[in-house]
Amino acid sequence: MSGFLTKETEHYLEELFRQTDPLLKEMEQFAREKRIPIIEPGGAAFLDIYLRSLKPKKFLELGTAIGYSAIIAANALPDDARIVTIEKSADNLVLARKYINRSGFQNKITIAEGEAKELLRGYLAEWDCIFIDADKEDYDELFELSLPLLREGGVILIDNLLWHGYTASSEVPASYVRSTEIIRAFNKKLASGDAYHFTIVPAGDGIGVVIKKSIQE
Ligand SMILES: C[S@@+](CC[C@H](N)C(=O)[O-])C[C@H]1O[C@@H](n2cnc3c(N)ncnc32)[C@H](O)[C@@H]1O
Repeated sequence: MSGFLTKETEHYLEELFRQTDPLLKEMEQFAREKRIPIIEPGGAAFLDIYLRSLKPKKFLELGTAIGYSAIIAANALPDDARIVTIEKSADNLVLARKYINRSGFQNKITIAEGEAKELLRGYLAEWDCIFIDADKEDYDELFELSLPLLREGGVILIDNLLWHGYTASSEVPASYVRSTEIIRAFNKKLASGDAYHFTIVPAGDGIGVVIKKSIQE
């Protein structure tokens, strides 16, 4: 549930964009049953169409979980695109490997095991698009590490910036207060940054889009 659309609109969009791919449908069901967070249907539809338009040759994801959004990206991107997805949870890595092998995209998607904050320090600045979908308390650091790794004009996508509607709400459940504060501060920082253009698309749970400015801009 987005928490920021009316229930009717949410239901309408869910029906309109219901997943039809059998493997992705199975993964949605599995994630629901095991309570593993994956990108919401509206966010998945946005990611799919945005990547089809942007066509990044080098796509990096921070937060694989079971591989659902990595497979969405692999479906959307041309055959010569390279996808690297980073995951730190050993349990999720087993599941992601299983699902990515079943998807047939095991040559297009490389799974990198470990803490993204450490792995990113060893990466080269070559990425066209980076998708951040990790622990919320890591967002700011992951963003700061990602920006220098992005080519000029490259895009960082960030999930959950409307955080079930709590970023805009005065009534936040106790268990969400800390994470909501983190995302509010992060959004504020992004909105006032000079090195990039930024907006939030109210799709899924709110997808941030950051475009790195060129030196001339
Ligand atoms: C929201 S889930 C990712 C969902 C996935 N992108 C999708 O939509 O299918 C977040 C995942 O990121 C992993 N994660 C969180 N913080 C991380 C970090 N700093 N480094 C590596 N993995 C991280 C978690 O273990 C979890 O599996």
